[in-house]
Amino acid sequence: QAKQILAGKKIVITAGGTISPLDPVRFLGNRSSGKMGIALAKAALVAGAEVILISGHIAVSLPNSPSLKNIKVETTEQMFSAVKTAFLGADALIMAAAVADYEPVNYIAHKIKKQDQGDELKIYLKETPDILKKMGSIKKANQVVVGFAAETNNLLENASKKLQEKKADMIVANDVSHGVFGSDEDKVMVLRQDKTTENITETTKVEIAKKIIVLVAEELESRKV
Ligand code: C5P
Repeated sequence: QAKQILAGKKIVITAGGTISPLDPVRFLGNRSSGKMGIALAKAALVAGAEVILISGHIAVSLPNSPSLKNIKVETTEQMFSAVKTAFLGADALIMAAAVADYEPVNYIAHKIKKQDQGDELKIYLKETPDILKKMGSIKKANQVVVGFAAETNNLLENASKKLQEKKADMIVANDVSHGVFGSDEDKVMVLRQDKTTENITETTKVEIAKKIIVLVAEELESRKV
């Protein structure tokens, strides 16, 4: 029996990828499998938390627990709106989702036809809301916000930039230069606002998730007055 280090806590976790629809049948997407987010949700449930899992496209099945509430979303806007509402009453937010950063300027309400396009189809994209950044800027003193930094190069430099820009309490720096998407394995390091870092030596997403949940519980504990 694992220690209930998150008993009585409400944790919002995002998992999987959001998509940007182009027309009724096509979308821009990403390679997120949702494995890390689901592993985090499971670890938080085992630790006794009430979990709100906000999921985009995922390739794995969801845990089944009376303490889990799942909200399915497709677009970044939908995820943003679900996170905003859920975060209001939450102790922590873990943004493990691979959020689509851009979406088409114009959604085409009918299937785009090849014969209407010629040999090039131009799609203009605009930025979507940065959910983590918005939540980092509105979080209360007792709320913990965790983000991920999936990087292919300059891992620690980019991750610490993200920690500052997004005002997250922790950033999980994740080297995705070789085959992390869809894999059960990963290699991460955690950066905190007080400049301390945690080198996570575990190599599976399941074990890494458990470690991250322990760090979140410790962070919440340290906020107690
Ligand atoms: O800036 P970047 O997208 O690399 O940051 C990654 C972190 O920010 C992840 O935790 C991701 O879930 C979150 N994110 C977000 N909203 C976006 C883009 C990323 O919350 N539009």
